[in-house]
Amino acid sequence: MENQEVISMPRIGETAPEFKAVTTQGTINFPSDFKGSWVILFSHPADFTPVCTSEFMTFASMESQFAEYNCKLVGLSVDGLYSHIAWLRTIKEKIEYKEMKDVEVKFPLIEDITMEVAQKYGMMMPGESNTKAVRAVFVIDPKGIIRTIIYYPLSLGRNFDELLRVVIALQTADAFSIATPADWRPGDDVIIPTAGSCGVAKERMETKEEGKKCYDWFFCTKELSKEKIMSEIKKK
Ligand code: BEZ
Repeated sequence: MENQEVISMPRIGETAPEFKAVTTQGTINFPSDFKGSWVILFSHPADFTPVCTSEFMTFASMESQFAEYNCKLVGLSVDGLYSHIAWLRTIKEKIEYKEMKDVEVKFPLIEDITMEVAQKYGMMMPGESNTKAVRAVFVIDPKGIIRTIIYYPLSLGRNFDELLRVVIALQTADAFSIATPADWRPGDDVIIPTAGSCGVAKERMETKEEGKKCYDWFFCTKELSKEKIMSEIKKK
């Protein structure tokens, strides 16, 4: 442990660390400016790089889909504001990629040349790079609590359908007090939380209920329609 720097990183279930930052959309106070909304705070390694460009074009094209679930987007890299502005202008004016063109990034992109925010959120991983943030994703709920953290290395572009699935799954779990199984998509069966003790769970397993399936005493699912989910969580 000698000479090893201890880096603290926010964890799932904790309040998102506060910061004030300059962005392409003006100054923000995080997370207080986003209270009442879900927000995805994500970092990218560098402006004017190909993987990041493909990610920004995809995320910006999906911004309205995230907005349907009351979810805002905030990007960050350790580049400066003028680099951000020039890169986003280049994307809009010049880049045509996978049927996406004229893409305007309207969500805030934080300048973090001091790396203060990137350090605070554990976005710097020296084993990967000393000078660039990795591809970190923090999904934060309307109360400012971190609900999901995902990290990708520099070379791997994120799957944005998965990020949307994460937001929908978290909101569904909150609204219906259920859990979601592997590869769950809205409309698939959901998991009924395990009852406190084995005896109670066994009794519940034997109770017949329409749409309920038990694979063992600790593993029961039930049907939950996509329509029911959407009517509860989707913004009207
Ligand atoms: C990219 O976005 O293409 C990238 C950025 C930093 C390192 C490697 C790739």
